[in-house]
This record gives sequence, structure tokens and C-alpha cells, in this order.
Amino acid sequence: MVIAPSLLASNLGKIADEVKRAERAGADWIHVDVMDGHFVPNLTFGPDIVKAVRHSTKLFIDVHLMCSKPEILLEPFAEAGANCLTVHTELGADAELLLYKIHSLGLMAGLAINPPTAMSTTEEFLKLIDLLLVMTVNPGYGGQPFVHETVPKILQAYKWRKELNLSYRIEVDGGINFETVAEVAKSGADTIVSGTGLFKQHNMKAAIKKMRKIALDSAPVDTEESKHPKKYVVKKSR
Ligand code: DX5
Ligand code: ZN
Repeated sequence: MVIAPSLLASNLGKIADEVKRAERAGADWIHVDVMDGHFVPNLTFGPDIVKAVRHSTKLFIDVHLMCSKPEILLEPFAEAGANCLTVHTELGADAELLLYKIHSLGLMAGLAINPPTAMSTTEEFLKLIDLLLVMTVNPGYGGQPFVHETVPKILQAYKWRKELNLSYRIEVDGGINFETVAEVAKSGADTIVSGTGLFKQHNMKAAIKKMRKIALDSAPVDTEESKHPKKYVVKKSR
């Protein structure tokens, strides 16, 4: 079970300290939300912030690109030290080339899907991805309530992975807290992004421990993860 605190909910005036706080608290990954003010109505982090994060931690950096033109950002984020780059299925056929490009940069490639988008749009890309990100809120802002209608997508992602004998991770993002994590983990999510639910906690170590325990206790017993827990090794920063 990978627990990935989302930097969006951290104290942005002290990003380096917040990243270190998450690492000390037992986070597995750091989730970085990149918003371009076009694909979503908000603006956040660029490659230089990821470079600063890279210098503050050895943790795996998971970059979620909510961007209309991710093609211009892949190399800069790879150079900055990202480990996984996720693009959205809403970009349509362009996603294929983007996924190849991410792999050619030596990184993990993820595909994200928004709540209103049909799950069938991801099907043609499943063999190309290392991670399928099921958005559990409409992207753009942290602190929104979990959208329950997205749960069947997690179940579908889990079912497809088994049927097609694939090994992509199933990530969930948005409104995940102690109340909602059991349902997503039970449905097959093995990579849990949480912003408000973790960074806003006074004792983040206890919060991560609690969230991980609820998720593990709820997860299906036959997950690949429970049989072969994966270790994510981070390349030396450039
Ligand atoms: C939403 C972002 C999320 C966000 C989650 O657009 O993709 O990663 O930071 O924040 P919480 O956990 O507060 O909903
Ligand atoms: Zn995100």
C-alpha cells in the first residue's frame, strides 16, 4: 500500500520542511499536482518546485499533470527529478504518444481519469501504463468531498488488471481521509493520495499509520501488492 501525501495541502511557505515532515512521518511517495490554469481552473507548481522537492527528499515523486499541453512539460519534469508522470485520458488519442515519451525518459507512466469521463476511454492504454489514477473528485482544488460515484471505476480497474494479467498500480486522489479510504482500498486501490487528510493533521506520522492500517485491513487479500510488496527505488537526483 503506497501512501502519497499531496503537497497541495501542505504549508506552501515551507515546502522543503513540509516534504521532510512527510518523509519523517512515513510517506512512501510525494504527490505533486501540476495545474496549468487551462485544463483545470487553478495554477500550481512548475518543474522548479519539483527540483526543490527533489533536493529535500529521497522519496519517490509522483507528478500529476492536469495540463492541456503536457508534451512541453515531460522533459522539464523528468530533468527536475520526477519519478512518475501522469497525464489525463481526457487528452484523447494524444495520450498514447505521451505515455511512450514518459517511458522513453525512464520514468513510470500514469493515466488519470476524471469523474465524468467514461472508463472505456482508458482501455486502449492499459498495456502502456504503470499506474491508473482514478480521480475521486473533479480536479482543480484540494479539500473537496469524495465523489462516491467513482468507486465502480476502481473496481473496473482492478477487474481489468486481473483479467488482462497487467500490473499497473491503482491510485485514487481527492477527498481521501480516514472515512473514505476503506471503501477505495476495498475496491482495489493500492496507491492512496491524500492532501487535506494528511498534511492538515497535527501528528502526520500517526495519521499515515492509521490511514495505511485502514487501507491494508480493507484491501482484497489477493492483491499483487500483498503477495509481492514493491519497493520504489529513487534514482540519484541530477
Ligand atoms: C485535486 C488534486 C488532488 C488534491 C487532493 O485536483 O489532484 O491531488 O491535492 O487533495 P485532498 O486530499 O485534500 O482532496
Ligand atoms: Zn493529484
